[in-house]
Amino acid sequence: MADVDLSVEIAGITFKNPIILASGPPTRSAERIIRAMKYGAAGVVTKTITYDVMQQIQPRPRMYVVRPHDALAGRYYSFYSVDLMSEYKPERWISEIGKVKAEVKDGVLIASIAGRTYEEWSKLAQLVERAGADMVELNVSCPHIEEGELMGRAAASDIDIVRHIIKTVKESTSLPVVVKLTPHGAHPVKLARVAVEAGADVLVSTARFQGLILDVNTMKPILWGGFGGYGGPWQVPISLSWTAHIAMQRLKVPLIGSGGISSWRDVLAFILVGAKATQMCTAIMMYGYQLIPKLLQGIEKWMKDKGFASLEEFRGRALESIIPLEKLSRKKAYIVKIDRGKCTGCGICVRDCPYDAIYLDDFRKAVVNHELCDNCGLCMSLCPTNAISLTVMQHDG
Ligand SMILES: Cc1cc2nc3c(=O)[nH]c(=O)nc-3n(C[C@H](O)[C@H](O)[C@H](O)COP(=O)(O)O)c2cc1C
Repeated sequence: MADVDLSVEIAGITFKNPIILASGPPTRSAERIIRAMKYGAAGVVTKTITYDVMQQIQPRPRMYVVRPHDALAGRYYSFYSVDLMSEYKPERWISEIGKVKAEVKDGVLIASIAGRTYEEWSKLAQLVERAGADMVELNVSCPHIEEGELMGRAAASDIDIVRHIIKTVKESTSLPVVVKLTPHGAHPVKLARVAVEAGADVLVSTARFQGLILDVNTMKPILWGGFGGYGGPWQVPISLSWTAHIAMQRLKVPLIGSGGISSWRDVLAFILVGAKATQMCTAIMMYGYQLIPKLLQGIEKWMKDKGFASLEEFRGRALESIIPLEKLSRKKAYIVKIDRGKCTGCGICVRDCPYDAIYLDDFRKAVVNHELCDNCGLCMSLCPTNAISLTVMQHDG
């Protein structure tokens, strides 16, 4: 498939395709990183490197999949976990990074770091640069970090702290600095602006949420007994919307989309709203490194079918079609039609119509009262047999 070029340039570094593995268990050692790169990942973010010993000792158990059967069937699931940072001391990462750089020549290695003090942020940035990392990613996003700390989401809740961390790291290294945004700090768009002003070279939008799963029988949180990171494919529309909002700011730094990505369609969606590349972790944990070539094949095929030779040809294309709230059509009139042949009389549309505009007739077929119907679209979306359609009656203006 040589006629499709998947490469992308981010902060002066070429990635051979838009697939980057996010920081997490699939990137916890040189051996795993090399495996990811051999499966085709263009870049890999290491598990977060820290001097905080409490972050290096993992709680057990710490991972739980909500609806695992749905995950295996390719449907929505959630991943709940309290995996902390890298178990390896920062010094160990000097040899881990060295091994990766010696073994793989066409993969970009991004080192994720988290300091407890500004001095530690600086020291870690210098350490990973000396070790041979290509970029450094700042973990101001981890959902487990509670208020008062200088790392993870706690740091991102104060824009002055984020600014100071970025400036400190920028002064300590010549590596491009990637800032991973969080849904839990200041508003991601505001955080993005502050990060770029402070010198961030690349933004990642965005990390996971914090969640809590309780067992009502025991009346306690499940498994490890506390809060955890919470994410999954359902997160894509949320992270996609933030990525689009940030892209619309035209901040002049490359944006990497992340948060819930598990299919080639997800990767394309992030590129279509302006991302240069994507990061993913959970989907690799669920479907293995074998997912990487499948994603690449799906993207290549889509590009060929659409006649695109490079990602730049369609990057950001969807932004122009996103209609702002104030411009949404209020004048267009529709009429709801029900295909009586397809209607099974299940009554879901009758029960759920917010305008009480649908009833079942004597033949148990749905009938619309057009006087009451507001054409909101809910019945069409819910109908299990696709018996309901909306037809435009009158256009704007
Ligand atoms: C088990 C697990 C461990 C993770 N560990 C880290 C970490 O050490 N550092 C970090 O910055 N992000 C970590 N993450 C977050 C991911 O890098 C990623 O930002 C997040 O999960 C959203 O992407 P995804 O939906 O593709 O997983 C972890 C995620 C999971 C699921």
